[in-house]
Amino acid sequence: MLPKFSFRPFLANILTTCLLAGIAVAPAYAASNENPPVLPVSRNSSRADSWWKHAVIYEVYPRSFQDSNGDGIGDLKGITERLDSLRDFGVNAIWLTPMYPSPQVDFGYDISNYEAIDPMYGTMADFDRLVTEAKKRNIRVILDMVMNHTSDQHPWFVESRSSRSNPKRDWYVWRDGKGPGQPPNNWQSEFGHSAWTYDAKTQQWYYHKFYAQQPDLNWNNPDVQKAMFDVVRFWLSRGVAGFRLDAITTLFEDPQLRDEKNLPGKNAYGDPNEDDSMTDNLPQVQDVLRALRKVVDEYPGQRVLIGETYLPNVQELAKMYGAKNDKLQLPMDMQVGLINRLDVNEFRQRIDEAETQLHGDQPLFVFDNHDNPRSWDRYGDGVHDAAIARIVAAILLTTRSTALMYYGQEIGMVTTPPKTRAAVQDPIGKIGWPKEKGRDGERTPMQWTPGKDAGFSTAEKTWLPVAPNYKTVNVQVESTQPNSLYLWYKHLIALRRDHPALRDGANIMVNPSDANVLAYLRKNPGARHSVLVAMNFTAQSRTVAFDLKNFGIQGTRARTLLQNGGVAKSIALGHVKLPPFAVWIGEVEP
Ligand code: GLC
Repeated sequence: MLPKFSFRPFLANILTTCLLAGIAVAPAYAASNENPPVLPVSRNSSRADSWWKHAVIYEVYPRSFQDSNGDGIGDLKGITERLDSLRDFGVNAIWLTPMYPSPQVDFGYDISNYEAIDPMYGTMADFDRLVTEAKKRNIRVILDMVMNHTSDQHPWFVESRSSRSNPKRDWYVWRDGKGPGQPPNNWQSEFGHSAWTYDAKTQQWYYHKFYAQQPDLNWNNPDVQKAMFDVVRFWLSRGVAGFRLDAITTLFEDPQLRDEKNLPGKNAYGDPNEDDSMTDNLPQVQDVLRALRKVVDEYPGQRVLIGETYLPNVQELAKMYGAKNDKLQLPMDMQVGLINRLDVNEFRQRIDEAETQLHGDQPLFVFDNHDNPRSWDRYGDGVHDAAIARIVAAILLTTRSTALMYYGQEIGMVTTPPKTRAAVQDPIGKIGWPKEKGRDGERTPMQWTPGKDAGFSTAEKTWLPVAPNYKTVNVQVESTQPNSLYLWYKHLIALRRDHPALRDGANIMVNPSDANVLAYLRKNPGARHSVLVAMNFTAQSRTVAFDLKNFGIQGTRARTLLQNGGVAKSIALGHVKLPPFAVWIGEVEP
């Protein structure tokens, strides 16, 4: 489920402020005087536990990643062409958003056949080749699995709506209205207006948490569960490494159809605000997760379940793992990445919660995806965006979390919303215009080169326009700039892979009352070197002192492993000078 886009007005403010001030909303690091980062020393870690605990998982939106046939839309062959680049960058797994046959109302999240490839993206042979080629490069392929709803064009729904007595009728959620023209209750779609659509032929309403073209499956029907689990087996047998479970918290609805509670105000679609206690995160979801995990565990090779889990707090997140870790291995932690402002206290608290309240299970942090404005814009202040993007990268890659990235995050792609309603592709943007411009802005084509279509395509017109900053913000150019965001990410990935403390060390908050500098220790067990990470969240220089004796560390000096902003190479922990928005990562004497 989407986080109701509560930060979109915030984004609009930033963009307006920048335009008024004449500030280009584009990376400044190319022109900055920042010192190139100090390269980490490579060391091999000996521990061999579950691959996904240390992985960089990279979300690929197939429409926008690489077009191999010049039609302006990305495809599977295109992804295969870019695997070398992903391997060199340090990616361990790619998550593909849906590439199944679909009418594309919700760009693939409306699936009409779960066991095939949409011809727009290629063939099953292309898919198999992608998996094989990825494997050669030690990259696993994770699929998006949409179990909450199908397309209204799926044969199951076509049958279901054909008559009240059809055997598939009960595969979806059909109900009588309250009266003529009145839906069964006040439930709203995430994408605006009533979540019920009337079907004149059979004179009942069907429920859809998302678009009307995405009818919800009825998960109380055991046949639905069986059919979906068969789909899961189909892909596991083809060698996929696991699934990202779309909208997984919304599988069930209140059986009594009680109204949602009204909240003050109206949303971007002009509907009254309401909570979602009757349609989201119902307890029955947990049983499905446990059953699904059993299916996945039937297969060798540590297949993984990732959840799209927008939840209100860490306690709810903890439930998704299961007391015996018998549900999801990696439910997404949306608490950290969607804070949407550089607030030291909030980051400290939420990172610490993930460390201390998930019962030792593995956190999965995420800042960017195809549903939210890019972190560049959500965290940037319009002036120090390049430096702030490095803070985001550092949090993602130096905490004890599995890292989930989104294509383009590594080069500093910015949100590029459509300028007119006519240009909008995402139906949310059409329904909600102008308050809600939809999600096109975070889905623009990947920027590979400064050439035509940013190297994404050769088409005259790409499905969404390439963002105007592609000449400087792209993989090719940034690969050769020692101080680029791309190389910053690459160094961070290498460091976290190679340094035992960053790989396995506990994540302990240091200087917990400092409101300007976020600092934490990645404590290596035993006498080996621990790593200290410090980030200045403000536009002023800050000098901080670290005393690590309470953590069993007697050393008073540290050696810089990676920094930006100009921190010294060797520092005394009693006097660490951090320039504005600097990130410093150092190895402390034991
Ligand atoms: C998830 C997807 C989003 C999609 C929705 C409905 O939130 O990430 O893109 O629109 O589910 O399937």
